[in-house]
Formats: sequence, C-alpha cells, structure tokens
Amino acid sequence: MAVFKNRLKDGRTVLIKELGIEDKEKLVEMYESLSGDAVRWAMPPYTAERIERWLSNLQNLISLVAFYDDKIVGDAHIHKLPHPRRKDTGDMAIYLHQDFHNVGLGTVMVTKLIELARKEGLHRIGLSVIADNKPAIRLYKKLGFKIEGVMKDTYFGEDAKYHDELIMGLILK
Ligand SMILES: CC(C)(COP(=O)(O)OP(=O)(O)OC[C@H]1O[C@@H](n2cnc3c(N)ncnc32)[C@H](O)[C@@H]1OP(=O)(O)O)[C@@H](O)C(=O)NCCC(=O)NCCS
Repeated sequence: MAVFKNRLKDGRTVLIKELGIEDKEKLVEMYESLSGDAVRWAMPPYTAERIERWLSNLQNLISLVAFYDDKIVGDAHIHKLPHPRRKDTGDMAIYLHQDFHNVGLGTVMVTKLIELARKEGLHRIGLSVIADNKPAIRLYKKLGFKIEGVMKDTYFGEDAKYHDELIMGLILK
C-alpha cells in the first residue's frame, strides 16, 4: 500500500496512507480527541461502534488517513453507494484533528482522495456541508466541487439556531 509523505504549511510532515483494519484503535482515538470546535458543524458522536461499521465495510470505502507522530490526525473518506441506481457514486467526508486545521492537510487529503476515486472509476462524489463551515466550503470549491443546492434550516447549531446545509458535488470525467 502506498504511503505518501507530505510537508504541511507549518513545516510538519505527515504520512498519508489508505485506511486499513489495523488502524481501528488509532482512528477511534482521533475521533475521541476532537474538540467541540472541530465538530461544531458536524454530527458527533463518532463512537467506536460507528467506526467499526465503517471498517467492516472497507470494500465500499475509499479512505485515507494521515499520521503524525504515530497518531492519526486526519481521516478523509468516500462511501461508495451500493445501490445499482447509485452506480459509481459516493459521499465524501473529512475530519482533521484540531491541531492540524488550516495548514493545508485538508487540501492534500481531498486531492489524493479524488485521485483514488478517479482510478476506481467513480463518476460522482457528493457531500453536504453546513453553510457556515467556511474553511470546508473553500476547500471543496478550490478542488472543483460545485454547490448544487441548499437545504434550509436542517442543522440545529450549538448557538440554538437553525443553519442551512449545502449539497455539493464533483463529477469526475
Ligand atoms: C474543514 C477541514 C477539513 C478543512 O481542512 P484544512 O486542512 O483546515 O483546510 P486547508 O488548510 O487545506 O484549506 C482551507 C482553506 O480555507 C481557507 N479558510 C480558512 N478559514 C476560512 C474562513 N473562515 N473563511 C474562508 N476561508 C477560510 C484557508 O485559507 C484555505 O484556503 P487556501 O488554501 O486557499 O488558503 C478541517 O478544518 C476540518 O477537519 N474541520 C472539522 C471537521 C469538518 O468540519 N469537516 C467537514 C465536514 S463537511
């Protein structure tokens, strides 16, 4: 399995590789260590059970993890949708540890994930993102995702207000 070395904007070097079953504990640890701020626009909890479900279905997952200091600090994955009417389409998600935000790791991981998806012959990558999640939207747009629609007031934030959710997609030609 290929391992890529990547130097981040702040000089730290991470190793990026495809997720394997052997990474389970470290992935659970990363999700357990995410700060409230890191999951402000997400839907925790990411429990060991939930992560085990992902890992029990690796054949339907295109997935990369980033390591720093032998710990997982980033997870980016695409769930390939199994129904024949969803042929070659998948939904993407990415979560980085808060100590690794805004130093280019998201850009590197999603770029590599798109490369893998192309190699696997995926036709479409979709995702949804809360409209207030500016760094995520900037990242997705930069890598070619387009806003396809808006769902109004789907997300009840910690500010006790409803927020909109954007549907974004990238068609791989
Ligand atoms: C969203 C996330 C994956 C982004 O990853 P990242 O490594 O921080 O992103 P990068 O540093 O590669 O790129 C972020 C971009 O957003 C920009 N950005 C940062 N804060 C911003 C803001 N408030 N408004 C607009 N753009 C902003 C950065 O300048 C950068 O753009 P650039 O490359 O043109 O300079 C990461 O912050 C994360 O894991 N957040 C928590 C979980 C989450 O929200 N996941 C997404 C759920 S849909």
